[in-house]
Amino acid sequence: MKITLIGAGNVGYHLGKRLFKKGINIRQVYSRQLINAQFLARKIKAVPVSKFSAIDSKSDLYIIAVKDDAIETVAKVLSRHKGMKRKLIVHTSGAASSEILAKYFLNFGIFYPLQSFSKTRKIRFSNIPICVHASHSKGLKKLNNLGNLISNRVATINDKERAILHVAAVIVNNFTNHLFHLGQHITNEEQLEFDLLKPLIEETVLKIAKYSPLEMQTGPARRNDEKTIKKHLKYLKKFPKYQHLYTLLTKSIQDAHRR
Ligand SMILES: NC(=O)c1ccc[n+]([C@@H]2O[C@H](COP(=O)([O-])OP(=O)(O)OC[C@H]3O[C@@H](n4cnc5c(N)ncnc54)[C@H](OP(=O)(O)O)[C@@H]3O)[C@@H](O)[C@H]2O)c1
Repeated sequence: MKITLIGAGNVGYHLGKRLFKKGINIRQVYSRQLINAQFLARKIKAVPVSKFSAIDSKSDLYIIAVKDDAIETVAKVLSRHKGMKRKLIVHTSGAASSEILAKYFLNFGIFYPLQSFSKTRKIRFSNIPICVHASHSKGLKKLNNLGNLISNRVATINDKERAILHVAAVIVNNFTNHLFHLGQHITNEEQLEFDLLKPLIEETVLKIAKYSPLEMQTGPARRNDEKTIKKHLKYLKKFPKYQHLYTLLTKSIQDAHRR
């Protein structure tokens, strides 16, 4: 299978490298800034391009891995290229609907790797769930095969399910990561080592590999230790912005255990 990768950001970078490693021919890599396309293209023996007009129609599959808000613009421009209408076009977004591709292509789909990607961080691809969806069974088969080549976990997930999964993904990943940041801010401000909290963070994540998060909940909110909660809120007067969040999450934990 010959692939054109549109986007050389966090996802484009990791996906491109993984596909290349598995023997897939990635012919062209597009990024708005040529330097970004070149950086990835060099690693995966592809041709870097930074102009839409340079994207040709010789590939079998076009993977759009640009920011959500730009997917439709990219699809629209791409659809005007000769010979592109019947190609299989997918995007990698958790949140964007496949309908934005339906407007411009006959064969379209989704190839959404459910993981948090950063260019600077190495990633083990084999256990990343790849959520696939396609407008036609032939396309779905191709995406399933491609997914199975790079991961042990491929799931057929429709638009509605993917949108829900993405909300849950934002909560478990983006929100917890933000909470780590707040914890770090507090320790930094108080000249304490954030590293002292790292084994706790690790254990929090490791525990849920085996047990339900509800079951594993500990802490003052879970125990209804009102005195401790009041003490924490008093301390947080130093960080008034975090007081509200502390109260909200405490209530959320208490509600979950009242059910
Ligand atoms: N990062 C994740 O953890 C993750 C996980 C799963 C799915 N996704 C999805 O994958 C897609 C890409 O995410 P990402 O994190 O890889 O994004 P990213 O790192 O910000 O990279 C975005 C890419 O899109 C290009 N781009 C940005 N605006 C554009 C525009 N207006 N027109 C054309 N190209 C444009 C950028 O080009 P230049 O850099 O050259 O300007 C870059 O190549 C998104 O749909 C996202 O929802 C992300």
